Amino acid sequence: MIKIAPSLLSADFAALGSEVAEAEKSGADWIHVDVMDGRFVPNITLGPVVVKAVSAHTSLPLDVHLMIENPERYIADFAAAGAAVITVHAEACVHLHRVVHQIKELGLLAGVAINPATPASAVKEILPDLDLVLVMTVNPGFGGQAFIPSTVHKIREIREWANEIGHDLRIEVDGGIAEATAPIVSEAGADVLVAGNAVFGQSDRAAAISAIRAAAGG
Ligand code: DX5
Ligand code: ZN
Repeated sequence: MIKIAPSLLSADFAALGSEVAEAEKSGADWIHVDVMDGRFVPNITLGPVVVKAVSAHTSLPLDVHLMIENPERYIADFAAAGAAVITVHAEACVHLHRVVHQIKELGLLAGVAINPATPASAVKEILPDLDLVLVMTVNPGFGGQAFIPSTVHKIREIREWANEIGHDLRIEVDGGIAEATAPIVSEAGADVLVAGNAVFGQSDRAAAISAIRAAAGG
């Protein structure tokens, strides 16, 4: 089953409550929340205070993507704010195993993200411990960028490794996902599709979500 996770980055930040409520009504499965610190990525967005405020307006799982250095310092705060999934970047964690288990011990789903230039092998050793791998299909930092096709083989590779060990892993993709790119990533093995501009940039969000879902094969 494909999950569609609209990214709040392209929503109206002055109206986040109604934006998430509308995404939920429009058929979203998860709400993707992009946290940026101005260090790991050039942009700055939001923290646990905003996640908590948003969580009051939706019953959907909040999928928190931490594009921050030293994420271990903030995991407990994002969990308390209502995150259901926390994803950290492999490139930002010296002690990735420790951070992943910190997330799992709080009862949340744990994910690891890899940038376009990071090989799939960066998550191979820790794959059995993960609930989700996020393959970045753009360089993180901004919405509305063009999909990078050279990332697709990593989805395929990670899906093969997960199948080999019989692990029911979610593979999420993030960046430049729209009707045209959804079939490419779902065919490769991705099953959680983040879409910012392709959902919140459209006036009819329900039509946008169903178009992406249909293009991904359901
Ligand atoms: C990029 C963020 C994405 C972003 C995707 O750094 O992680 O979640 O919102 O935006 P689109 O779908 O517009 O490429
Ligand atoms: Zn993201």
